[in-house]
Amino acid sequence: MMKRIRKAVFPVAGLGTRFLPATKTVPKEMLPIIDRPLIQYAVDEAIEAGCDTLIFVTNRYKHAVADYFDKAYELEQKLEQAGKTEQLELIRNVLPPGVRAVFVTQAEALGLGHAVLCAKPVVGDEPFAVLLPDDLIWNRGPGALKQMADAAVVDDASVIAVQDVPRDQTSNYGIVATDAFVEREGRIRAIVEKPTPEAAPSNLAVVGRYVLSPRIFDLLELVKPGAGGEIQLTDAIAALLEEERVLAYRFQGTRFDCGTHLGLIEATIRYALDHEKLSDSARRLMQNALDELGVVDLD
Ligand code: UTP
Repeated sequence: MMKRIRKAVFPVAGLGTRFLPATKTVPKEMLPIIDRPLIQYAVDEAIEAGCDTLIFVTNRYKHAVADYFDKAYELEQKLEQAGKTEQLELIRNVLPPGVRAVFVTQAEALGLGHAVLCAKPVVGDEPFAVLLPDDLIWNRGPGALKQMADAAVVDDASVIAVQDVPRDQTSNYGIVATDAFVEREGRIRAIVEKPTPEAAPSNLAVVGRYVLSPRIFDLLELVKPGAGGEIQLTDAIAALLEEERVLAYRFQGTRFDCGTHLGLIEATIRYALDHEKLSDSARRLMQNALDELGVVDLD
């Protein structure tokens, strides 16, 4: 049986070019949805899934990510003196007790696969999770990674999150071919990175949550630069599924691609409308904006 995952890797060393100029100084993962940066949502999901060691793959421009998870002594002191206990709890709970953050550097942005490989010395020889924070997954029940981590143990296999996408969007994703699904799972038989709609084996797209066997590290070491000169995680997964069972998992939840402008806007709207304090006002604001612009009614 696959061991329970304890370690989660967050590859955050990409260039974030789609959010320039903001990402000149603010890493993409630090862009907020309401009051929390994207990375916090992914971290919370990993902790809920049982992870206690969080490994951030960063680069020399991403100090903000490390600073965010560091203890802010002065700020804590000031909030304490001012009696602002609610805010104090918020910043103290960025990482709950018992959870540790480890930072490893990817010196050059050589691709997602390379970023994951940089975490090998910390992960070692045990199954682990990979979360891409710009894929934000909203769910009222258990988080996507928790669902996958449970499935990985029960089915003794690596598990990759997938979602149906429109055919004309296959070239934005890794696309899998699978055996017939039983409930939420289907065994992956092939995986291709960013195929054209004509070449795509299905419209089942990989999204940024993975539970992987440590064998992936050996395979990543063998991968040659692929599409765009990058070391692709997809290529190593293609090799892994020749040796071990790898399952595609249709998770429960709604995924927002916050690596794109529209995805970030959509996520902000969704979280605002679902927010216990903001939802009524947010709804009114949206209605006003639509009315002023002479667009259709929200209902
Ligand atoms: P993306 O394809 O979204 O690239 O990477 P990006 O650089 O972050 O953003 P754009 O496309 O330029 O706007 C997918 C994930 O892989 C990480 C990114 O940080 C992101 O979480 N990544 C990518 C690395 O950590 N290192 C790399 O060399 C490449």
